[in-house]
Amino acid sequence: MGPLKKIGILLSGRGSNFEAIADSVAAKRLPAEIAMVISNRAGAAGLESAKRRGLKARLIPSKGRSREEHDAEVVAALQQAQVDLVCLAGYMRLLSPQFVRAFPHRILNIHPSLLPAFAGLDAQKQALEYGVKVSGCTVHFVDEHLDHGPIILQKTVPVFDTDDGHSLAARILEQEHIAYTEAIRLVLSGEVEIQNRKVVRRK
Ligand code: GRF
Repeated sequence: MGPLKKIGILLSGRGSNFEAIADSVAAKRLPAEIAMVISNRAGAAGLESAKRRGLKARLIPSKGRSREEHDAEVVAALQQAQVDLVCLAGYMRLLSPQFVRAFPHRILNIHPSLLPAFAGLDAQKQALEYGVKVSGCTVHFVDEHLDHGPIILQKTVPVFDTDDGHSLAARILEQEHIAYTEAIRLVLSGEVEIQNRKVVRRK
């Protein structure tokens, strides 16, 4: 097995997906280490938990700054940490084209719906209000558009008549925590490649 790959995590809040990834790393379910955790929001619970775990964790505030200026600082920090893969984990910002270009096909995101349905904010509530019977989560490569890049994997959950936004979000979140590790493992292993916008097994 080669050297451990370095993962950079970007988050803005609770950080439960970050926690799930960190647990997978600690349990050696991923051949990787978390080289850097960055939050754009002060007081993000995920940032505090990264520090408690003894990981390199930084606040790079986005408030009041242009996207280009903020992204340039985040990219510099990730490059300095020599990350191989960037994982957005509840990072509430669209990335600038410069950011995406700095890590070609090396940025992943998780979204709590079966894309392309219900991109954007409050995806679980959107799904519920639309009346779908099945929802889930999507891990995808990040491009310059919101919740749009090539899909690595999806997991589904049923939607029940009795659901509200919270119960559905909780059911989806459980799958998110499993899906993110699986997707990271696939990408780091080099077993998949992107053909047009399809993520397929390398032959
Ligand atoms: C998750 O539902 C994720 O899919 C979405 O934002 C939420 C982040 O939750 N992008 P957490 O901070 O990982 O707990």
